[in-house]
Amino acid sequence: MRLLVTGGAGFIGSAFIRLVLGTNPSVSILNLDKLTYAGNLENLECVAGNPRYRFVRGDICDTALVNRVLEEWPVDAIVHFAAESHVDRSILSPEPVFETNLRGTFTLLEAARRRRVQRFLHVSTDEVYGSIPEPYAADESYPLRPASPYSASKAGSDLLALSYFTTYRLPVVVTRASNNYGPYQFPEKLIPLMISNALEGKPLPVYGDGMNVRDWLYVDDHCRAILAALEKGREGEVYNIGGNCSLPNIEVVRKILKATGRGEDLIRFVTDRPGHDRRYALSSEKIMRETGWSPQVAFENGIQQTIAWYQENAGWVARVKSGEYQNYYALNYGSREEIR
Ligand code: NAD
Ligand code: TYD
Repeated sequence: MRLLVTGGAGFIGSAFIRLVLGTNPSVSILNLDKLTYAGNLENLECVAGNPRYRFVRGDICDTALVNRVLEEWPVDAIVHFAAESHVDRSILSPEPVFETNLRGTFTLLEAARRRRVQRFLHVSTDEVYGSIPEPYAADESYPLRPASPYSASKAGSDLLALSYFTTYRLPVVVTRASNNYGPYQFPEKLIPLMISNALEGKPLPVYGDGMNVRDWLYVDDHCRAILAALEKGREGEVYNIGGNCSLPNIEVVRKILKATGRGEDLIRFVTDRPGHDRRYALSSEKIMRETGWSPQVAFENGIQQTIAWYQENAGWVARVKSGEYQNYYALNYGSREEIR
């Protein structure tokens, strides 16, 4: 089987490539990635010499390039991770989000339709459902109420992908996962940012009252679910992928401080994110029932493994935090005030 993976140099895409090449000797992968600030070939050093792996640097919005790649290297399936993936950046600068998440997905869908690709797995997010009131959990028929430019672009691209199934019978499967965490995550998202700041003894900026709830999913559990959906998911269907681990942000932050041996004096409650979704909660009953997948990594274990990885990979962290990251950090956090 030959796979085109987009965005494979990012956090989840690289975990997927490492997992598939490590466990599936009959699969070859071509990774198409633009290498934005979030793409990092260091994440793929362990597969770089693998004869079943190829890398092409390029933009998924580049129609000629996407068509050329698929012509020169015909694939059975596309697993589409590439995205601008961060809510805060999407608030500060929405245009790249629109370009990659909407235009890029459109470009890939068109190329896949013309080449009659046998499977198009579109990797999406639970954020498309927006904030979910207690005590509900969204199943796949829950209304889409995205609140940020990021989540709106993902909702738009989900619907576009599904329309290619309905209209052109392109065999699309959409997955919607909850918040991922694990090794190699860029330290702009909550968990890696808090771990790396705690390890450096820097303040931990918690938005608002810290009571926003996220459902945490270990990245390898997510990748196993994507494989399950790729192999067993039904065409034209959406599959939620949750970690079954809902926690308020402040609890996550306290666990990280405890595990890194730091005190709660590092916590700073700062100006909230505009349009901040209060709570995400997912029902993953459908993918569990149809594919047999279930999350295997409990949060207590996953967070220990993740912290250990960041401790052991200080060089990786230092490199990704140099340069552009410093500008982003100043822009996103510099004007936030401490609120209590
Ligand atoms: P990431 O930001 O770590 O990686 C994104 C990758 O896409 C990078 O390697 C980047 O270089 C590449 N990319 C960006 N724009 C591109 C373009 N125009 N052309 C080609 N490559 C481009 O993201 P991630 O956290 O690994 O997320 C991957 C996917 O999973 C995204 O679609 C995201 O919406 C979805 N998702 C993420 C989470 C999460 O918690 N991180 C949860 C659910 C779903
Ligand atoms: P994030 O990791 O950005 O994921 P998402 O917004 O896609 O869920 O944020 C997770 C939660 O953590 C969210 O409620 C916002 C909050 N958060 C903070 O409190 N401080 C921070 O510095 C960051 C990055 C996030």
